[in-house]
Amino acid sequence: MKHKQRVDWHAGLNTGHRAIDLQHYELFSKTNELIAMHEAGQSTQALDDLLPSLKTYALFHFSEEETMLARVAGGTESERQHVLQHREFAHDIEVWNQRRSSKTDTEIAEDLGHYLEIWLISHIAVADQELAHLVLAHETHDTPARQSAAWHQHRESFDVNRT
Ligand SMILES: [Fe+2]
Repeated sequence: MKHKQRVDWHAGLNTGHRAIDLQHYELFSKTNELIAMHEAGQSTQALDDLLPSLKTYALFHFSEEETMLARVAGGTESERQHVLQHREFAHDIEVWNQRRSSKTDTEIAEDLGHYLEIWLISHIAVADQELAHLVLAHETHDTPARQSAAWHQHRESFDVNRT
């Protein structure tokens, strides 16, 4: 029987910053949904429906993190490297989409699942831990209401674009 792939959260990935952690859980959840759909034999649907949703959420999450980065590490090499990793992820997702013209969706979805797992875990374990540490060391004036408003505003613009 085929080994079931799944991206497992472990305590070492918690950053201690609630908003960042909740957004990371959501990214893991979306990644696991994509993998589960692929493993259920629906790779095309996983790439057509779930990958754009995952990418949209990832971009929202990156912009939230980058706002924090600008505040606590603006102009530093740490900020530059972190933002660069976010840009590389967005670029890589486009590359995965382009590869669909030369490989089967089953092959793409299988490899993409592994890529997402490795990227998320390695990024969260280092760059995001450092960010959360800096944010927690600062007095923040961010509120759950502002974070929620930012996400709804972002989702509305996405829904408009889809219609
Ligand atoms: Fe990040």
